[in-house]
Amino acid sequence: MKRARSPWGYLALILFAALSALVFDRFRARPQFEPDLPVEFHLTNPVRRAPEVMERAELLFRRNCLPCHGKAGHGDGPASVSLNPKPRDLRSPDLQNQTDAFLFYRLTEGKMRTAMPSFGTSLNPQDRWALVHLVRKIGEEARKDETN
Ligand code: HEC
Repeated sequence: MKRARSPWGYLALILFAALSALVFDRFRARPQFEPDLPVEFHLTNPVRRAPEVMERAELLFRRNCLPCHGKAGHGDGPASVSLNPKPRDLRSPDLQNQTDAFLFYRLTEGKMRTAMPSFGTSLNPQDRWALVHLVRKIGEEARKDETN
């Protein structure tokens, strides 16, 4: 006849399960995307940051973003005076800490309850990704100035 498992056996099993769950949780990769980013925007930038892409992005920026965000992206364009909230300073660290995917999402959908427009219909995806590269470049240049 088989002996019934002792209560200590069950306890050991439960302890083992709890411990492995803890260890697993520790080593699980942190989520790659912002928690509120819709899944269809869980993307990486498919456009290569080539010189001609950046040139195009500068042109698009002057046409579409400069009036609010200013020539250098500091949030001080001529239209910014009348806006509340003000356009973002594109150098700001919390903005630069967001993923490319999140910036692309903002360019595509705009930002509710602010003047930030959606460019999902007026600019094609390549152009929006090129602008994401330009926003990154603005951040990089600001960090370079800081360390100099
Ligand atoms: C009509 C004015 C206006 C125009 C044009 C505009 N923006 Fe904005 N933008 C804003 C405002 C206002 C905000 C929100 C500020 C806030 O939430 O504090 C914003 C926010 C942003 C943000 C931050 C989004 C976030 O999560 O807070 C990015 C990035 C951005 N704009 C990039 C751009 C780019 C690139 C263009 C051009 C393709 C552009 N904007 C055109 C007004 C504008």
